[in-house]
Amino acid sequence: MVQTYRQLRLDLSAALAAFLEPSEARAESVRWFEEGLELTRSWMAAHGGEPAPESVQRQVSAWVHRRKTGEPWAYILGWCLFRDRRFLVSRDTLIPRPETDLLVEAALEVGKRLGVARCVDVGTGSGIIAVSLALETDWQVSATDLSPGALAVARENAAALGATVAFFEGSLLNPVPDPLGLVVANLPYVDPADEPSLQPELAFEPASALFAPDRGLALSAELLRQAHARHAPACLLEIGAGQGGELCRSALGAGWSKAMIHQDFAGHDRVLVALA
Ligand SMILES: C[S@@+](CC[C@H](N)C(=O)[O-])C[C@H]1O[C@@H](n2cnc3c(N)ncnc32)[C@H](O)[C@@H]1O
Repeated sequence: MVQTYRQLRLDLSAALAAFLEPSEARAESVRWFEEGLELTRSWMAAHGGEPAPESVQRQVSAWVHRRKTGEPWAYILGWCLFRDRRFLVSRDTLIPRPETDLLVEAALEVGKRLGVARCVDVGTGSGIIAVSLALETDWQVSATDLSPGALAVARENAAALGATVAFFEGSLLNPVPDPLGLVVANLPYVDPADEPSLQPELAFEPASALFAPDRGLALSAELLRQAHARHAPACLLEIGAGQGGELCRSALGAGWSKAMIHQDFAGHDRVLVALA
Protein backbone atom coordinates (compact mmCIF):
# COMPACT_ATOMS: atom_id res chain seq x y z
CA MET A 1 0.00 0.00 0.00
CA VAL A 2 1.23 3.53 -0.83
CA GLN A 3 2.17 5.43 2.30
CA THR A 4 1.81 9.22 2.23
CA TYR A 5 4.15 11.55 4.10
CA ARG A 6 1.31 12.39 6.50
CA GLN A 7 0.62 8.72 7.22
CA LEU A 8 4.36 8.11 7.64
CA ARG A 9 4.53 10.83 10.27
CA LEU A 10 1.50 9.44 12.12
CA ASP A 11 3.03 5.95 12.04
CA LEU A 12 6.34 7.39 13.26
CA SER A 13 4.60 9.13 16.14
CA ALA A 14 2.87 5.85 17.08
CA ALA A 15 6.19 3.91 16.84
CA LEU A 16 7.91 6.46 19.10
CA ALA A 17 4.99 6.39 21.57
CA ALA A 18 5.86 2.73 22.26
CA PHE A 19 8.83 3.98 24.32
CA LEU A 20 8.30 7.76 24.79
CA GLU A 21 5.54 9.83 26.42
CA PRO A 22 2.83 10.54 23.79
CA SER A 23 3.55 14.31 23.78
CA GLU A 24 7.31 13.68 23.38
CA ALA A 25 6.62 11.18 20.61
CA ARG A 26 4.52 13.71 18.71
CA ALA A 27 7.10 16.46 19.16
CA GLU A 28 9.96 14.16 18.09
CA SER A 29 8.10 13.01 15.00
CA VAL A 30 7.77 16.66 13.92
CA ARG A 31 11.49 17.29 14.66
CA TRP A 32 12.54 14.19 12.71
CA PHE A 33 10.61 15.42 9.69
CA GLU A 34 11.97 18.95 9.99
CA GLU A 35 15.57 18.21 10.99
CA GLY A 36 16.17 14.71 9.61
CA LEU A 37 14.14 14.75 6.39
CA GLU A 38 14.23 18.55 6.05
CA LEU A 39 10.48 18.66 5.42
CA THR A 40 9.05 21.79 7.05
CA ARG A 41 5.56 22.10 8.51
CA SER A 42 4.51 24.29 5.60
CA TRP A 43 5.88 21.73 3.10
CA MET A 44 3.91 19.03 4.93
CA ALA A 45 0.74 21.15 4.85
CA ALA A 46 1.06 21.45 1.08
CA HIS A 47 2.48 18.01 0.16
CA GLY A 48 1.65 15.70 3.09
CA GLY A 49 -0.83 13.77 0.93
CA GLU A 50 1.84 12.76 -1.59
CA PRO A 51 3.39 9.29 -1.48
CA ALA A 52 6.60 9.01 0.54
CA PRO A 53 9.34 7.23 -1.47
CA GLU A 54 10.48 3.86 -0.12
CA SER A 55 13.95 5.26 0.55
CA VAL A 56 12.39 7.78 2.97
CA GLN A 57 10.34 5.06 4.67
CA ARG A 58 13.47 2.89 5.07
CA GLN A 59 15.43 5.83 6.48
CA VAL A 60 12.74 6.57 9.09
CA SER A 61 12.51 2.94 10.12
CA ALA A 62 16.34 2.71 10.51
CA TRP A 63 16.19 5.79 12.78
CA VAL A 64 13.38 4.23 14.84
CA HIS A 65 15.50 1.10 15.37
CA ARG A 66 18.34 3.20 16.77
CA ARG A 67 16.07 5.45 18.84
CA LYS A 68 14.37 2.40 20.38
CA THR A 69 17.69 1.41 21.97
CA GLY A 70 17.65 4.76 23.82
CA GLU A 71 20.09 6.54 21.49
CA PRO A 72 19.24 10.27 21.60
CA TRP A 73 17.96 11.91 18.42
CA ALA A 74 20.88 14.38 18.31
CA TYR A 75 23.41 11.52 17.97
CA ILE A 76 21.32 9.86 15.25
CA LEU A 77 21.06 13.17 13.41
CA GLY A 78 24.70 14.15 14.11
CA TRP A 79 23.95 17.74 15.04
CA CYS A 80 21.98 19.91 17.42
CA LEU A 81 20.87 23.54 17.46
CA PHE A 82 22.30 25.92 20.07
CA ARG A 83 21.54 29.65 19.92
CA ASP A 84 20.13 29.01 16.44
CA ARG A 85 23.42 27.61 15.15
CA ARG A 86 23.97 24.06 14.01
CA PHE A 87 26.65 22.25 16.04
CA LEU A 88 27.95 18.81 15.08
CA VAL A 89 27.84 16.33 17.94
CA SER A 90 29.30 12.84 18.29
CA ARG A 91 29.46 10.15 20.96
CA ASP A 92 32.63 11.99 22.16
CA THR A 93 30.64 15.11 23.06
CA LEU A 94 27.83 15.94 25.41
CA ILE A 95 24.63 16.88 23.59
CA PRO A 96 24.16 20.63 24.14
CA ARG A 97 21.40 21.41 26.65
CA PRO A 98 19.09 24.45 26.41
CA GLU A 99 20.04 25.47 30.00
CA THR A 100 23.58 26.28 28.83
CA ASP A 101 22.12 29.28 27.04
CA LEU A 102 21.72 30.88 30.51
CA LEU A 103 25.47 30.49 31.09
CA VAL A 104 26.29 32.12 27.74
CA GLU A 105 23.87 34.99 28.45
CA ALA A 106 25.43 35.53 31.90
CA ALA A 107 28.97 35.41 30.42
CA LEU A 108 28.01 38.03 27.81
CA GLU A 109 26.50 40.28 30.47
CA VAL A 110 29.38 39.96 32.98
CA GLY A 111 32.12 40.10 30.34
CA LYS A 112 30.71 43.27 28.78
CA ARG A 113 30.19 44.90 32.18
CA LEU A 114 33.80 44.15 33.17
CA GLY A 115 35.14 45.13 29.74
CA VAL A 116 37.10 41.88 29.29
CA ALA A 117 39.13 41.25 26.14
CA ARG A 118 39.61 37.48 26.60
CA CYS A 119 37.76 34.45 27.76
CA VAL A 120 38.38 30.72 28.27
CA ASP A 121 35.73 28.01 27.94
CA VAL A 122 36.84 25.07 30.09
CA GLY A 123 35.50 21.64 29.09
CA THR A 124 34.32 22.87 25.72
CA GLY A 125 32.79 19.59 24.43
CA SER A 126 31.26 20.36 21.03
CA GLY A 127 32.45 23.97 21.44
CA ILE A 128 29.03 25.60 21.87
CA ILE A 129 30.09 28.11 24.53
CA ALA A 130 33.44 29.09 22.99
CA VAL A 131 32.04 29.37 19.47
CA SER A 132 28.96 31.35 20.59
CA LEU A 133 31.12 33.80 22.56
CA ALA A 134 33.63 34.15 19.72
CA LEU A 135 30.84 34.93 17.26
CA GLU A 136 28.93 37.28 19.55
CA THR A 137 31.80 39.37 20.97
CA ASP A 138 35.18 40.71 19.91
CA TRP A 139 36.91 38.75 22.71
CA GLN A 140 39.91 36.48 22.12
CA VAL A 141 38.44 33.08 22.96
CA SER A 142 40.30 29.94 24.08
CA ALA A 143 38.83 26.56 24.91
CA THR A 144 40.11 23.44 26.64
CA ASP A 145 39.01 19.85 26.99
CA LEU A 146 40.56 16.64 28.24
CA SER A 147 39.00 14.68 25.39
CA PRO A 148 40.80 14.73 22.01
CA GLY A 149 37.61 13.41 20.38
CA ALA A 150 35.54 16.30 21.73
CA LEU A 151 38.20 18.82 20.69
CA ALA A 152 38.14 17.47 17.13
CA VAL A 153 34.37 18.09 16.97
CA ALA A 154 34.74 21.55 18.55
CA ARG A 155 37.42 22.50 16.00
CA GLU A 156 35.16 21.36 13.18
CA ASN A 157 32.27 23.42 14.57
CA ALA A 158 34.43 26.54 14.95
CA ALA A 159 35.66 26.20 11.37
CA ALA A 160 32.18 25.55 9.93
CA LEU A 161 30.69 28.52 11.78
CA GLY A 162 33.59 30.87 11.07
CA ALA A 163 34.62 31.36 14.72
CA THR A 164 38.21 32.00 15.79
CA VAL A 165 38.95 29.94 18.90
CA ALA A 166 42.32 28.69 20.22
CA PHE A 167 41.85 25.10 21.38
CA PHE A 168 44.03 23.38 24.00
CA GLU A 169 44.02 19.76 25.15
CA GLY A 170 44.49 19.27 28.89
CA SER A 171 42.91 19.51 32.30
CA LEU A 172 41.00 22.61 33.41
CA LEU A 173 43.17 25.74 33.01
CA ASN A 174 46.54 23.92 32.89
CA PRO A 175 47.11 24.20 29.13
CA VAL A 176 46.01 27.86 28.77
CA PRO A 177 48.62 30.63 28.93
CA ASP A 178 48.09 33.82 31.01
CA PRO A 179 46.32 36.22 30.96
CA LEU A 180 43.09 34.26 31.15
CA GLY A 181 40.30 36.82 31.04
CA LEU A 182 36.79 35.61 31.88
CA VAL A 183 36.61 31.90 32.76
CA VAL A 184 33.40 30.13 31.69
CA ALA A 185 32.66 26.44 32.09
CA ASN A 186 30.02 23.78 31.89
CA LEU A 187 32.05 21.00 33.48
CA PRO A 188 30.72 17.59 34.54
CA TYR A 189 28.65 18.09 37.68
CA VAL A 190 26.49 14.98 38.09
CA ASP A 191 26.94 12.99 41.31
CA PRO A 192 28.17 9.48 40.35
CA ALA A 193 25.87 8.08 43.07
CA ASP A 194 22.88 9.25 40.99
CA GLU A 195 23.91 7.17 37.97
CA PRO A 196 21.48 4.25 38.56
CA SER A 197 18.48 6.61 38.65
CA LEU A 198 19.34 8.64 35.53
CA GLN A 199 17.46 8.46 32.22
CA PRO A 200 18.81 5.57 30.11
CA GLU A 201 19.58 8.01 27.27
CA LEU A 202 22.42 9.48 29.36
CA ALA A 203 24.27 6.16 29.03
CA PHE A 204 24.99 7.15 25.40
CA GLU A 205 26.86 10.29 26.46
CA PRO A 206 30.50 10.13 27.63
CA ALA A 207 30.71 9.47 31.38
CA SER A 208 33.68 11.88 31.45
CA ALA A 209 31.31 14.66 30.32
CA LEU A 210 28.72 13.97 33.02
CA PHE A 211 30.18 12.79 36.31
CA ALA A 212 32.54 14.45 38.77
CA PRO A 213 33.81 13.16 42.12
CA ASP A 214 32.71 14.57 45.48
CA ARG A 215 28.97 14.51 44.65
CA GLY A 216 29.58 16.26 41.33
CA LEU A 217 31.33 19.24 42.93
CA ALA A 218 35.04 18.42 42.57
CA LEU A 219 35.81 19.88 39.13
CA SER A 220 33.78 23.07 39.68
CA ALA A 221 35.46 23.69 43.04
CA GLU A 222 38.93 23.07 41.59
CA LEU A 223 38.27 25.40 38.65
CA LEU A 224 37.14 28.15 41.05
CA ARG A 225 40.47 27.75 42.89
CA GLN A 226 42.58 27.75 39.70
CA ALA A 227 40.78 30.69 38.08
CA HIS A 228 41.13 32.85 41.18
CA ALA A 229 44.80 31.92 41.67
CA ARG A 230 45.42 32.95 38.04
CA HIS A 231 43.75 36.36 38.48
CA ALA A 232 40.67 35.84 36.31
CA PRO A 233 38.28 38.80 36.83
CA ALA A 234 35.29 36.42 37.01
CA CYS A 235 34.44 32.75 36.78
CA LEU A 236 31.03 31.56 35.58
CA LEU A 237 29.97 27.95 35.95
CA GLU A 238 26.94 25.93 34.97
CA ILE A 239 26.06 23.93 38.08
CA GLY A 240 23.62 21.26 39.19
CA ALA A 241 20.30 21.88 40.93
CA GLY A 242 21.00 22.26 44.63
CA GLN A 243 24.78 22.80 44.27
CA GLY A 244 24.59 26.61 44.58
CA GLY A 245 25.04 27.02 48.35
CA GLU A 246 28.03 24.71 48.64
CA LEU A 247 29.77 26.07 45.52
CA CYS A 248 29.22 29.69 46.63
CA ARG A 249 31.01 28.78 49.86
CA SER A 250 33.82 27.14 47.82
CA ALA A 251 34.11 30.30 45.70
CA LEU A 252 34.36 32.59 48.72
CA GLY A 253 36.82 30.15 50.34
CA ALA A 254 38.95 30.26 47.17
CA GLY A 255 39.22 34.05 47.54
CA TRP A 256 36.49 35.39 45.20
CA SER A 257 34.92 38.47 46.75
CA LYS A 258 31.36 37.80 45.53
CA ALA A 259 29.49 34.66 44.48
CA MET A 260 25.93 34.69 43.11
CA ILE A 261 23.58 32.05 41.78
CA HIS A 262 21.19 32.42 38.85
CA GLN A 263 18.31 29.98 38.72
CA ASP A 264 16.84 28.44 35.59
CA PHE A 265 13.20 28.65 34.47
CA ALA A 266 12.36 25.64 36.62
CA GLY A 267 13.72 27.49 39.69
CA HIS A 268 16.86 25.31 40.00
CA ASP A 269 20.37 26.61 40.74
CA ARG A 270 21.99 26.75 37.30
CA VAL A 271 24.73 29.36 36.95
CA LEU A 272 27.29 30.49 39.51
CA VAL A 273 28.97 33.85 38.97
CA ALA A 274 32.12 34.47 41.03
CA LEU A 275 33.64 37.96 40.90
CA ALA A 276 37.17 38.94 41.94
C1 LIG B 1 29.21 18.73 30.65
S1 LIG B 1 30.31 18.58 29.24
C2 LIG B 1 30.06 20.20 28.57
C3 LIG B 1 30.39 20.34 27.13
C4 LIG B 1 30.04 21.73 26.57
N1 LIG B 1 30.76 22.78 27.26
C5 LIG B 1 28.57 22.00 26.66
O1 LIG B 1 28.16 22.89 27.43
O2 LIG B 1 27.79 21.31 25.97
C6 LIG B 1 31.85 18.68 30.07
C7 LIG B 1 33.11 18.63 29.21
O3 LIG B 1 34.23 18.76 30.09
C8 LIG B 1 35.25 17.89 29.67
N2 LIG B 1 36.10 17.62 30.86
C9 LIG B 1 35.91 16.73 31.86
N3 LIG B 1 36.90 16.85 32.77
C10 LIG B 1 37.72 17.84 32.33
C11 LIG B 1 38.90 18.44 32.85
N4 LIG B 1 39.46 18.04 34.00
N5 LIG B 1 39.48 19.42 32.13
C12 LIG B 1 38.95 19.84 30.95
N6 LIG B 1 37.81 19.32 30.43
C13 LIG B 1 37.21 18.33 31.12
C14 LIG B 1 34.54 16.68 29.11
O4 LIG B 1 35.38 15.98 28.23
C15 LIG B 1 33.33 17.33 28.44
O5 LIG B 1 33.59 17.62 27.09
